[in-house]
Amino acid sequence: MLTTELLQKEILRLKKEKDFVILAHAYQTHDIVEIADFVGDSFGLSQQAQAVPQKNILMCGVRFMAETAKILSPDKRVILSHPEAGCPMAEQLTIEELRALKEKYPNHAVVAYINTTSELKTLCDVCVTSASAMKIVKKIPQKDILFIPDCNLGGWIAERVPEKNFVFIKGGCPIHTRITEADVLHARKQHPNAKLLVHPECTSEVTRHADFAGSTTAIMSYVEKSDEKEFIIGTDNSIVQHLGFEYPDKKFYKLSKICVCHDMRLTTLVDVYNCLVGCGGEEIALDKETYEGAKKCIDNMLKYGD
Ligand code: 13P
Ligand code: SF4
Repeated sequence: MLTTELLQKEILRLKKEKDFVILAHAYQTHDIVEIADFVGDSFGLSQQAQAVPQKNILMCGVRFMAETAKILSPDKRVILSHPEAGCPMAEQLTIEELRALKEKYPNHAVVAYINTTSELKTLCDVCVTSASAMKIVKKIPQKDILFIPDCNLGGWIAERVPEKNFVFIKGGCPIHTRITEADVLHARKQHPNAKLLVHPECTSEVTRHADFAGSTTAIMSYVEKSDEKEFIIGTDNSIVQHLGFEYPDKKFYKLSKICVCHDMRLTTLVDVYNCLVGCGGEEIALDKETYEGAKKCIDNMLKYGD
């Protein structure tokens, strides 16, 4: 019988033979994380893939991440691990709705969370990650900002950058917003000695109770640097599993058992294998106009994020 370990071995052999670099967003399952060349957040992964010699990139994650990898490495072949893996938040606004918002707020800088489609990015001035948002928003010259699509991440930034004026739409991550204040109060009662670490895609009712709020990689490095022994994790529950493998002497608790991103779970180890043998996934292709428009938005993120 084919076991997980045998399949992983075959994937490791194939990725060399077929000249692939495998990227896994931190919300992928542990069997995929184990065979990936790089694990992390979406933009960090795309930057790492840019610097490697392999001509083919397999992005185990969701569509906007594969599009970002393609924009950063236009001469490489980029495969999205599962054609149906999208980010519901990235598609919350239509291009027409964004055009209408820009007409309503003509003098606002349009700042997009990286979790947006490339098409939407063509109409934005700059994009940000949860890790770089604060720095970029402070640095851009405009005082008035239309922040899309995540009003929770946006609100979290706005609180920390009071010198700027923000307009939000009613968008957000449908997974992180499942976590409630009642979950926080319950978890605190169950684990009074644990530190509470949450993602800023959670609502303010949740983030205001946190000992630390930050991106997935920031949460993981907080644990790495901390001498504490117990942590309540307020982000996709895959992180609880990865941290458990990484630090078996520490304890990790889920803040909510329903904080699980279905789109991130679509990719299986068998999908990874199928992509490598050429019968799975989807090759990302962007037309010239989308590529150039979205690239400008990403280039500005690099300019202001430096
Ligand atoms: P980061 O990995 O950038 O923290 O983003 C979290 C997320 O929800 C990705 O879709
Ligand atoms: Fe999108 Fe939220 Fe899933 Fe991340 S966790 S991919 S933001 S739906």
